[in-house]
Amino acid sequence: MRIITKFNLVLISVGAIAMASSGYVSYYILQENAKREVITHAGMMMEAALAIRGYTISEIRPLLADQMQTHFLPQTVPAYAATTSFGKLREDHPDYSYKEATLNPTNPRDRAVDWENDIIRSFRDHSDQHQIIGTRMTPTGPSLYLARPITINNPQCLSCHNVPSEAPQSMLARYGSNNGFGWKLHETVGAQIISVPMSLPQHHALLAFYKFMAMLGSIFLLMIILLNIMLRSIILKPIVRIAAVADEVSMGNMQVTEFDASGKDELSTLASSFNRMRRSLQKAMRMLEDSQQKFH
Ligand code: HEC
Repeated sequence: MRIITKFNLVLISVGAIAMASSGYVSYYILQENAKREVITHAGMMMEAALAIRGYTISEIRPLLADQMQTHFLPQTVPAYAATTSFGKLREDHPDYSYKEATLNPTNPRDRAVDWENDIIRSFRDHSDQHQIIGTRMTPTGPSLYLARPITINNPQCLSCHNVPSEAPQSMLARYGSNNGFGWKLHETVGAQIISVPMSLPQHHALLAFYKFMAMLGSIFLLMIILLNIMLRSIILKPIVRIAAVADEVSMGNMQVTEFDASGKDELSTLASSFNRMRRSLQKAMRMLEDSQQKFH
């Protein structure tokens, strides 16, 4: 096998190992970053939902307290305010969602579906659990959810969610008396669940990964080309020339021009040693010829 082939085989193997390992690590890091970005995103949405709830309790409810005597205004209910606000957001971003998923809801829209039921059950079974983050497949691609428990810690909540007889008549007229009652103090009745699509950040992470790999590949390719050019001009060409001169000399042709050994590298040393050896050989041959002539 030629030196250049061996050299290139080593270079390509090293390049392939380096590309594969850095590709694996960078893919993992980029995907992790994408996931962290989505979690931050979902966390911000959760904060926004809590802010809307707080605003409704502190600003809206006192304003409408008088009107509530005559007819029920769901606009004063924090769950309604948060869910409706996010409903508006969904008009432009259908993949995002906010739900106050509840096992026994006042509004049937809030009824927990199968996977949400599992989350609520987990919160009910583990009271020390304050947040669940997970991913699931949806028809539009992978989606990340962030869930926090809804626990009844304020006895005031029970005025509307305990027994129908205690609830405002205007509320019963609107929602009926079958759902959303029987909640207990300190009971976890549901979970706030934010869903954020993962496909876009994942797509961006994949694009960044492809760009990184293309850059790494080009750097390796450039390095292989440059090293090949250097190997040819600095090492292989002089060796071929020395070999050619050595060939001529070995065949007895002493007329070939001397090898240029003006440089300071190892090959120039080899060339000058070779030149010296050739001169000694010439001298020895001449002495041999002289003694042969004398003998005759
Ligand atoms: C004035 C009555 C009233 C009070 C007080 C009240 N709620 Fe509600 N709650 C409602 C109504 C009505 C709905 C349904 C709103 C809708 O249509 O979205 C609701 C909805 C909810 C929901 C969404 C699930 C469902 O039942 O549809 C949760 C969770 C909830 N309330 C929790 C609470 C908590 C926690 C408190 C106490 C901090 C509280 N509520 C106090 C009337 C009330």
